[in-house]
Amino acid sequence: MTTLFDDKAADVIDLSIGAPARDLMPVDMVAAACTAALSSNDKACDSFQVSSDDMSRCIPAAIHSNASCKQYGPEAGDGQYLSELSILLQEEYCHLGLSPIASDSHLCCTSGASQSITNLLTLFSEPTYTSHVFLQSPTYHLVFQMVKDRGYKTDQLVGIPEDADGIDIAWLEGKLRELEIGKNKSVESPYYSAVLYTVPTYSNPSGTILSHERRQKLVQLAHQHDMLVICDDVYDMLYQPSEGKSLPPLVSYDMAYSSEGNGNVISNGTFSKILSPGVRCGWVQARSGLIKRLAKRQGCSSISGLHASGGSPAHFVSKLILETLRTKDLQKHIAKTRDILSERMTDGLITPIDELLLPLGCSYHKPKGGYFLWLKLPQSITSQALEQTILKNRIKVSCGYGYHFAVPSKDHDTYKLEIGSHVRLCFAFYSTSDLKSAVERLHQAIKICLESQK
Ligand SMILES: Cc1ncc(COP(=O)(O)O)c(C=O)c1O
Repeated sequence: MTTLFDDKAADVIDLSIGAPARDLMPVDMVAAACTAALSSNDKACDSFQVSSDDMSRCIPAAIHSNASCKQYGPEAGDGQYLSELSILLQEEYCHLGLSPIASDSHLCCTSGASQSITNLLTLFSEPTYTSHVFLQSPTYHLVFQMVKDRGYKTDQLVGIPEDADGIDIAWLEGKLRELEIGKNKSVESPYYSAVLYTVPTYSNPSGTILSHERRQKLVQLAHQHDMLVICDDVYDMLYQPSEGKSLPPLVSYDMAYSSEGNGNVISNGTFSKILSPGVRCGWVQARSGLIKRLAKRQGCSSISGLHASGGSPAHFVSKLILETLRTKDLQKHIAKTRDILSERMTDGLITPIDELLLPLGCSYHKPKGGYFLWLKLPQSITSQALEQTILKNRIKVSCGYGYHFAVPSKDHDTYKLEIGSHVRLCFAFYSTSDLKSAVERLHQAIKICLESQK
């Protein structure tokens, strides 16, 4: 195996893969940044000096390198990386009059969103103290196992229904009151009374965007109920160019109250979708108090064993990314990625879906960004039935079957049925022509499903 997707049959078009295609992962840019980072003389700490011979075999320019990227990095991340990252975030998110306040004291390096969620759950929640984990429903399904890994039981999970404006905040407010979240908060506890996991912008899988009013209200509720909101802001920069930028991340709303103290929102970012998943590098943004707890700064002691032991969790790669940010190559690549995704979504999915699937009774909301189109199947078909038909008839297509994305909790049976009548189609991994073929194959499968019901 060389990638996570190697066991997929070669002739199957698998729209469940939520990863960038090869042409969205720039090799030359990364190679140049690697050479620059290793050639830099920004001093690996003398007492830890290691030979650069191994590295220089691959990259001749680095022969006499004293580059700090080889050494353990500072707990919160390399200072220059955090500064360049903060400029990127200001450029991307400084709109709507809300200050993003992403100075480097509000940022911490991570090794990608997945590792970061696991670390945040470990540091800021504890299943015997944190009574519930709320999840946007439908939700990014691979998070369920992370929550279980932390020791949460199914009856502690609560799915929050959503509509076109994102999670239903009125419903959530009722639930927080009913469950008396925050009532037994202890001032000594390092943990929050509850955690909420959400993808507020271009949600995975449904593509929804939490509205401005709901963002405001959600932050208020989090403050009132001692709830930590973990926002997986992994698609925010990938808006469709014709739609323009979306709303600022939820953390900006929390930081609009104060940029200090712990606050109640963490923005979880990653370079997986805007550079390459293999780099395993990302960041979190939060108020300075929470960042200090995560990683040591200015004499404060961190609570994260991960950062204390290993230093910055992605030091080497963050130094490469620093180079791509300095040269603005990464910013150009992100703009190119938006254009490619736009073309794939429109010509690869929307045009053939309008022609072939809408007449069968499918429907969708046009995504304003992100990686996914959330397709509602004709009324009588469930995603399980479609999956079975595809398997039975050996139709060489696959997709994200909706029922996988329903929160594995006990409530909302009717809502789960609604989720199960959708499929998630990713437009990032395949070319436009492959996407068109995938829609034709889905058309065939849906027709078989419909005919079998007659
Ligand atoms: C919502 C969401 N969070 C996290 C991830 C994984 O991110 P990373 O590669 O940074 O671990 C993905 C990837 O599909 C995702 O869609």
